Amino acid sequence: MAEIKLWGGRFAQKTAASVEEYTQSVSYDKNLYREDIEGSKAHAQVLAEQGVLTEDEAKTLVEGLDTVLGEIESGKFEWKKEMEDLHMNIESRLTEIVGAVGGKLHTGRSRNDQVALGFRLYVVRSLEAWKDVLEKLISVFTAKAEGHLGVLLPGYTHLQPAQPVSLAHHMLAYAWMFKRDHERVCDCIKRVNVSPLGAAALAGTTYPLNPSSVAEKLGMDGTFRNSLDAVSDRDFVMESLFTGSLIMTHLSRICEELIIWANPCFGFIKLPDAYSTGSSIMPQKKNPDVCELMRGKTGRVFGDLISMLTTVKGLPLAYNRDMQEDKEPFFDADKTVYASVSIMADMMEVMGFNAENMENALKKGFLNATELADYLVGKGIPFREAHHITGSAVAHAETAGKGLEDMTLAELKSFSDKIDEDVFEILSYEAAVRRRVSPGGTGPESVKSQIAELKVWLKK
Ligand code: ARG
Repeated sequence: MAEIKLWGGRFAQKTAASVEEYTQSVSYDKNLYREDIEGSKAHAQVLAEQGVLTEDEAKTLVEGLDTVLGEIESGKFEWKKEMEDLHMNIESRLTEIVGAVGGKLHTGRSRNDQVALGFRLYVVRSLEAWKDVLEKLISVFTAKAEGHLGVLLPGYTHLQPAQPVSLAHHMLAYAWMFKRDHERVCDCIKRVNVSPLGAAALAGTTYPLNPSSVAEKLGMDGTFRNSLDAVSDRDFVMESLFTGSLIMTHLSRICEELIIWANPCFGFIKLPDAYSTGSSIMPQKKNPDVCELMRGKTGRVFGDLISMLTTVKGLPLAYNRDMQEDKEPFFDADKTVYASVSIMADMMEVMGFNAENMENALKKGFLNATELADYLVGKGIPFREAHHITGSAVAHAETAGKGLEDMTLAELKSFSDKIDEDVFEILSYEAAVRRRVSPGGTGPESVKSQIAELKVWLKK
């Protein structure tokens, strides 16, 4: 039985069953079958270009690989754990189909550069998908902003009412975060989409390979420069996992806000039925489970990143089998990041906002106190003194159970004789937002120009 292994030449005894199960990766790395076959086809073609194989041999290999691909896609392919990983499964089936020439495919190649190539191609595809779905999410936040230009709500610091902001401005804060995530994904792709094929096991090879031709055939942006680095580097995985972790962090923050906003004490949003769940015991409940799970899954994706960082940190050059542990964390994170971004986009698209509750919340918490202080500064009072005067007015209003805007002019004047009738205009929440004309502020001009800028970017 020892001879079933493609590497079995020097082995006299069979692998222990437990070891076979423990070391196999085919149960999950078979996900890479498309990329592995594409890489093998490019390798066979370049071997022929370079005169290492004949054109006929390469043609046979390429056709055989297409047959294997067809078998896998139609579900006919029989994956065997005793063949260890997908590479050996595919090569051994190829040899069954095309005969002895199948044994020539691996000329000048090692599984070490083979797996790095297939995995890089796979990660690039995942990142491309993240990019597309992030674009959708950014366009949803931008559209939500555009649809709610006039809606105001309390802006918070320390989760305490601070100053009024427009809902549009709040939505746009997330659009910009996700746009930076999109930029990070694009930047990451540049470094992932580099071919390591030709590094062979670790030292390069004696065959006259042409790595650039392989990269070109696969639509990759470049090739490795150092064979040891090419087979032992997994920073392309870690960088992608970090990028995914940051996307999840941003999602988790909006989830947290939506959970708070859905609480009846806030009542800022109406959770769409399709994106919430009920309780098995409390009939009145409508729970924000989607947001909670997304917040929860964020931790899982961080775990995937930490797992990879930890796996690699103690490894000497070059390839070590530990590196086989790179795939499952990425598959897990990939699935989670893609689904989370996509569901957030769909959920936000149908999210209903309760403008009235937002407006009512503005009246609780003296969100116009800064306006009064600024008004006093405008009348020549130093800011620190204006801050103090306003503080006393707030304390008085609080005891009286009303807002600053509900006090009479006489009441207000008792704190400073600089206060006149014109104070009431600046105490309006709408004015507080309108007057925030600084670049990037919540004022309508800034909000409109943010929307315009994002729309141009989305169109590109
Ligand atoms: N299944 C292995 C992995 O994913 C492929 C490379 C194995 N190379 C080796 N020399 N054992 O890392």
